[in-house]
Amino acid sequence: MNDRADALGGAADRPTVVVTGAGRGLGAAIAAAAAEAGWVVGVLDRDADAAGETAATLGGAAVALEADVADPGSVDNALDRFAGVTGRAAPDGLVCNAGIVRFGPLLDVTLDDWRAVVDVNVTGTFVTARAVTRRVVAAGRTGSIVTVTSMNGVAPGPNAGAYGTTKAGVARLTQQMALEWGPLGIRVNAVAPGLIDAGMSEPIYADPEIRRRRSGAVPLGRLGTGADVAAAVLFLLSDDAAYVTGTELLVDGGVTMSVIATLPRPRSVDTVGDRSVGDGTADHDAVGERAAGDDR
Ligand SMILES: NC(=O)c1ccc[n+]([C@@H]2O[C@H](COP(=O)([O-])OP(=O)(O)OC[C@H]3O[C@@H](n4cnc5c(N)ncnc54)[C@H](O)[C@@H]3O)[C@@H](O)[C@H]2O)c1
Repeated sequence: MNDRADALGGAADRPTVVVTGAGRGLGAAIAAAAAEAGWVVGVLDRDADAAGETAATLGGAAVALEADVADPGSVDNALDRFAGVTGRAAPDGLVCNAGIVRFGPLLDVTLDDWRAVVDVNVTGTFVTARAVTRRVVAAGRTGSIVTVTSMNGVAPGPNAGAYGTTKAGVARLTQQMALEWGPLGIRVNAVAPGLIDAGMSEPIYADPEIRRRRSGAVPLGRLGTGADVAAAVLFLLSDDAAYVTGTELLVDGGVTMSVIATLPRPRSVDTVGDRSVGDGTADHDAVGERAAGDDR
């Protein structure tokens, strides 16, 4: 075993992946799942302490990398460091997970907040994915990239500022990269988490009533976890998805598609013959009130 293999805890022959924003939240869960699946993980975060703490929990096959994804110079330095430790010029995989949100109504959102969210979520994804792809191509290798979008990129949420716009942008950027880099042997896919009880959403679910009502709105009957998101990322990252590129995989328990189910409906929709087939979620009285009002 050489020094490099020693540094990786004997994992020098394993595939390598860089996960951005892996100091906490979903990124840390993705990093843990990747390590468990046998990847050597570059735990990249702009918070060096958080990156170090996550890497320490993963044992020998993880390397803490400090970088701001929106800063090409710091991303290159981090990739150089990862290459130095792993002995590979380019990682086999990349997960563009780092992201931020700044809440506020559009009428009041400051340009500083707007630009900060665009910078990390969209520009950071582009900068990191391109830097890795350039290295993969130069090394004559192939690779797999997974971006992390959101159900908010599919449907807007109240007072989400630039967030949903950036996630829709990352979804399209994912397709653009898949189109241009497919011929280079690089697959690019997105995972869109829904209502997840982890990371930036943890404060929302500290309120038991919000937690109960949101869980009840999900067809699968529960909030998602970091492990749910990580499993989808690992699938797209791996050779199991060898013929999948340019797709966005919703990991949301079905909530994003459920808008019609949340609308009030007449009793006739929930009745077969003289038998009620409703699931108890319909607000029939509200429909009746509105219909009566319409009659006047
Ligand atoms: N948690 C959810 O409910 C949820 C739902 C949908 C999508 N997402 C997406 O999942 C991803 C991870 O979110 P999370 O909930 O784990 O967030 P989080 O705030 O818990 O963690 C984000 C991590 O990214 C790091 N980071 C932020 N900006 C960075 C930058 N410029 N460069 C490098 N690192 C940076 C932070 O230091 C932090 O460690 C984000 O892209 C987010 O938009 C999260």
